[in-house]
Amino acid sequence: MNKIADLRKEYMLHTLDEKDVHKDPFDQFRLWFDEAVRADVPEPNAFTLSTADSRGIPSARVVLLKGIEQGGFSFYTNYDSAKAGELATNPYVSMTFLWLNWNAR
Ligand SMILES: Cc1cc2nc3c(=O)[nH]c(=O)nc-3n(C[C@H](O)[C@H](O)[C@H](O)COP(=O)(O)O)c2cc1C
Repeated sequence: MNKIADLRKEYMLHTLDEKDVHKDPFDQFRLWFDEAVRADVPEPNAFTLSTADSRGIPSARVVLLKGIEQGGFSFYTNYDSAKAGELATNPYVSMTFLWLNWNAR
């Protein structure tokens, strides 16, 4: 088995400076999302939604972004799901998009 710590890639394509990003995070997201679509990233709207319950115990799972509306990101889910229960008691979440650009290899 490969040594996990040796599995490492260098990411040298761009740098990110706060002064170069849009003031509105949704506008910045739209720019990055369009870039991911143009780069042919697989499942660009799939993201890891991390929630935490009332004790702060975290859970994470992949869901699909359905849009940006009324100043928020929307996704579809079952209101009886674990994530819906956690969101009902603790509305703070984290969203992680993994956009691996295979063409840049
Ligand atoms: C690519 C992918 C997309 C998914 N999209 C959704 C989604 O949009 N909504 C959803 O509720 N679950 C989606 N799932 C399933 C969730 O990852 C998760 O297993 C399920 O919602 C139960 O999560 P929970 O028990 O933490 O609430 C998706 C899974 C994968 C692999």
